[in-house]
Amino acid sequence: MSVSTSIELDPFKLAQALSGLNFVAGAFHPAASGKTFAVNNPATGQEVARAPFSEKADVDVAVAAAKKAQKEWAKLPARNRGKLVAECGRVLSEHVEELGRLIALETGKALRTESRIEASVLADMFVFFGGLASELKGETVPFHPDMMTMTVREPVGVVGAIIPWNVPLLLMAMKAAAALVAGNAVVVKSAEEAPLTVLRVTQIMNTVLPSGLFSILAGFGPECGAPLVEHPDVKKVTFTGSVETGKIVYKAAAEKLIPVTLELGGKSPMIICADADMDKAVAGAIAGMRFTRQGQSCTASSRIFVHESIHDEFVARVREKVDAMVMGDPLDEKTDIGTIISDGQFDRVKSYIALGRETKGATEIVLSAMPTDAKLDKGFFVQPRIFTGITNNDRIAREEIFGPVCCVIKWSDFDEVIAAANDSDYGLAATIWTTNLKMAMDATRRLEAGFVQVNQNLVVQPNLSYGGVKASGLGKEASLESMLEHFTHKKTIIINMQ
Ligand code: NAI
Ligand code: MG
Repeated sequence: MSVSTSIELDPFKLAQALSGLNFVAGAFHPAASGKTFAVNNPATGQEVARAPFSEKADVDVAVAAAKKAQKEWAKLPARNRGKLVAECGRVLSEHVEELGRLIALETGKALRTESRIEASVLADMFVFFGGLASELKGETVPFHPDMMTMTVREPVGVVGAIIPWNVPLLLMAMKAAAALVAGNAVVVKSAEEAPLTVLRVTQIMNTVLPSGLFSILAGFGPECGAPLVEHPDVKKVTFTGSVETGKIVYKAAAEKLIPVTLELGGKSPMIICADADMDKAVAGAIAGMRFTRQGQSCTASSRIFVHESIHDEFVARVREKVDAMVMGDPLDEKTDIGTIISDGQFDRVKSYIALGRETKGATEIVLSAMPTDAKLDKGFFVQPRIFTGITNNDRIAREEIFGPVCCVIKWSDFDEVIAAANDSDYGLAATIWTTNLKMAMDATRRLEAGFVQVNQNLVVQPNLSYGGVKASGLGKEASLESMLEHFTHKKTIIINMQ
């Protein structure tokens, strides 16, 4: 099975070329069973390719190849590994346009506002981690003058990485680049909704990396994800997805006593103070809510607490700006907002909108406009929504919707709003907009979240530790710390020189 690595800007053609394949043990293969499932274009509902329905037999092949390759990889000087990982980033950077188009096709995320950006961050993540190889250092310990006591960082072995569909390129890069530089092999299970672009990335990476070191399997959770977590030669699992599945993964890892990193979503608060710079806060709220991605983000600022004195003006300003956004074909450069990923998520989001309507005191504000192009009739488009007049106790303000549904809640007392922001099962991100530095500092200390921002709304950045507290997960990603703590073991060595 061969697929050209030449840049292919027609995503439909590329999807066809990659149809039905995994990239395992250095080459393309279908699933051992020959079974496949459909990959659909969420903008039209049409099938664009098949993906292999991988099962335990496929996991076994990938892990065996990874185990073999890892032994040799770990023997390379760290900087040589780093150079190869950085080289993956360089080669991937040549494919940004191609990857951006393919991810837009399979996920429905708008090319201009989302998909192209994700593809370029992917390449950047590999370059960043490649440069960190020399930081895999140990320490010397002043234990005894006649004993040389030191620590070294060793790889864990084969890492199993399970990723979701919302930002598969970025999430795969954060996990894979760190794990590889640290001397591990990686087997990825892609999300059933978005298996194609990560497969293409794996193919491209394999033009640089040793055979078998980095493999990818498409498949479903119970049939492919579970056997990967349970495989005796997988020594670490890193997972991004729902809380429910995160707990299943954590339990399976506990049976084997292996470490896990879990990134599990949120219901992130954003607090807008009366003295905030209104223009910036409005733009920040729209960016934070990820309206251009149909709100499908674990860090989405989906609970916005607005001071009562500016509440109405703030809502009106957000409304005006989102109304001006164009929802349409993800591959069209004019499009600001693409689609929801799948029929399942579409129904889930619709059910939360219905719940919002039934919520006591709620006012529903419907934004932007449905696409008019008839070929998009069956697409999973949802008009963004704001619900006002609700409280932090209402279900729509407590449960992760993972859609373009934003809860705006009025506040008047600073202590009360901090308490309400923290009154959530989740603790991934939090944001405050204020020009009062003292208030900002106070909030950053008191907000229970792993990623707190003042007067801005950046997404994940290389070298900023990313990860949540409470139900949002365990461990950090994207940073030096994440590589050292989550993809290595620290070994203590004592040499008695007497
Ligand atoms: P999910 O957590 O079920 O899926 C994430 C990944 O886990 C996929 O690759 C899936 O195949 C895999 N998986 C499922 N069951 C598994 C098992 N038993 N063992 C091993 N792997 C397994 O999330 P799903 O169903 O795609 O979305 C449901 C909800 O989860 C969303 O509405 C959203 O609220 C949340 N979610 C959060 C994400 C985040 O970034 N934190 C990403 C995706 C979903
Ligand atoms: Mg699921």
